[in-house]
Amino acid sequence: MKTRNGHSKSSSPSAELLLGQRGKEMQKYGAIIHMPIGLSEEVRKTNVDALNQILADTITLRDLYKKHHWQVSGHTFYQLHLLFDKHADEQTELVDEIAERIQLLGGIAIAMAADVAETTKIQRPPRGREEVPVQIDRLLEAHELILKECRKAADTADENGDPGTNDLLSSKVIPTNELQAWFTGEHVVDGPLVHAE
Ligand SMILES: [Fe+2]
Repeated sequence: MKTRNGHSKSSSPSAELLLGQRGKEMQKYGAIIHMPIGLSEEVRKTNVDALNQILADTITLRDLYKKHHWQVSGHTFYQLHLLFDKHADEQTELVDEIAERIQLLGGIAIAMAADVAETTKIQRPPRGREEVPVQIDRLLEAHELILKECRKAADTADENGDPGTNDLLSSKVIPTNELQAWFTGEHVVDGPLVHAE
């Protein structure tokens, strides 16, 4: 018996690598499969859609932090280099938790860079290096966009009886973004360094 790609399929195990395999998608992006967790398909679909937007924007913010971690310059290079990397790591944790909640709800988590680029609402920065205040401004805008999305999605999840999604957003995603916005934002306060004004 031959498989579609020409490999022999036998009942006895073989050490041969079965390479070049492609098949149809088991579940299309946007489709919801049944999950036995006591939530209707309508509720799970609503919350999956909201979480996928937040996921695309969180992946983009994580990448923006990495970009700025590499490209930061000037007097505050060292502290911002470290801070941006810490925030990127924390955003990576959020990415994983949001994506796994989407799968748990029966959805498909957006994952690849090209798909994320088509979905995110965060403005695309240039490939080149920008000044520190511009880097910070882009990060603060991204945090605010995500926080607004999270508050809206958390309210919806509260209203449609999905406390798990509400808890992820309220207890993890929102506090992390608020704290990072504070730590990042304090770097664009134009205060005197040595002499009081
Ligand atoms: Fe690094």
